[in-house]
Amino acid sequence: MAEDTKDELTSNQMWGGRFASGPAAIMEEINASIDFDKKLYAQDIRGSIAHATMLAHQGIITAEDKDKIVHGLNTILSEIESGRFEFSRRLEDIHMNVEARLADLIGPAAGRLHTARSRNDQVALDFRLWVKEELQRTEIALTSLINAFLDRAEEHAETVMPGFTHLQTAQPVTFGHHCMAYVEMFGRDRQRVRHAIEHLDESPIGAAALAGTGYDIDRHMTAKALGFREPTRNSIDTVSDRDFALEFLAMASITATHLSRLAEEIVIWSTPQFGFVRLSDAFSTGSSIMPQKKNPDAAELVRAKTGRINGSLVALLTVMKGLPLAYSKDMQEDKEQVFDAAESLELALAAMTGMVRDMTIRADRMRAAAGAGYSTATDLADWLVREAGLPFREAHHVTGRAVALAEGKGCDLAELSLAELQAINPAITAGVFDVLTVEASVASRKSYGGTAPSEVRKQIAWWRQRN
Ligand code: ARG
Repeated sequence: MAEDTKDELTSNQMWGGRFASGPAAIMEEINASIDFDKKLYAQDIRGSIAHATMLAHQGIITAEDKDKIVHGLNTILSEIESGRFEFSRRLEDIHMNVEARLADLIGPAAGRLHTARSRNDQVALDFRLWVKEELQRTEIALTSLINAFLDRAEEHAETVMPGFTHLQTAQPVTFGHHCMAYVEMFGRDRQRVRHAIEHLDESPIGAAALAGTGYDIDRHMTAKALGFREPTRNSIDTVSDRDFALEFLAMASITATHLSRLAEEIVIWSTPQFGFVRLSDAFSTGSSIMPQKKNPDAAELVRAKTGRINGSLVALLTVMKGLPLAYSKDMQEDKEQVFDAAESLELALAAMTGMVRDMTIRADRMRAAAGAGYSTATDLADWLVREAGLPFREAHHVTGRAVALAEGKGCDLAELSLAELQAINPAITAGVFDVLTVEASVASRKSYGGTAPSEVRKQIAWWRQRN
């Protein structure tokens, strides 16, 4: 089939000088990236305007040609934005679609735009600009999520819930403290975003195909015009580097992994068995057959998006693995992974922020669960160390016996009588009952970063100052 269609196609108007005929249809199919890289149109046009302006400033093209080019590019921008632009697969990608249209609009001057530049540095530029803007959007989305958690933490600095290890009741904590754990996680994610912006903030344009150029260009000028800190330093690295895309995906994967843990907790907390939270109608769905159900679909989908985002990271790492320097066409596979992960992450962050803001916290249910499962056993052991002078190991043993006794009687530790406790260890006094409630337990954990409400409030204030 490829043979039949081959001759009908003419050679590519942008690079077809040495080609007698056009590509086989299947070649066009595998080669064209326009279906997805049209997303880069604004960055491509911005980059071309900066490049043309620099070329004129350096006397490489005339001011008159530059004006025509800039005017034509702005026309193309409005054509694309108003949906009037016709993208052609024959022209492969966004760079050649724009340049071909420029030639239609302004004639031969269009051919001067590509002086001292290659699609290799052009695509590196466009994609970097896009990723940089996406990182800036991610930073804002993470800040909203952090703020949602800070508000909930403030509201629930005193609300007691069970803390878990192995998903078994461990020690009582405050819900505010649990919220602040997520603030720390998403705060680190935001730092990763900021570092990623810092790392990519170098302008690739002017590296040309791979070796730089003989024209007297000014890469500092284009870097400045495009809002980069400085130009990249090595032209070979510049056109073969996709670290910025990998860093974006690595950051996205870690953030998505954090989101999936939160999503999983929300799924568990919203079950009738736990009943710690009630999701708003806005972020749940009903069942078409079981009328009593309210499903945490948004949380489940956030949990699932993680698979997709992690998949994109592994896909691009695998594309880049073993590629010789400098540019290879393999690298065209970078964009879909990043676009898809970006869209998934944006959605997941927005949905999670909405869920956290909207969900009802059922403090009574949390309090009841916090007291179950002998969660203050460590407090009893600590009391024996502090007040009765027992070594911790011995206190641990004594406490274990008290737990076994309570378990046998089917009651809480605080419901054992003083006589029963003294039968286990005579050093125990009535003062022990002060530490056996879950409120006393959390209030006592005032160590830096601990769960006491006073400590949680300090951590909230620390974050408020930095947000
Ligand atoms: N569409 C290409 C990409 O996304 C642009 C660069 C093409 N460069 C080349 N030498 N064929 O990577």
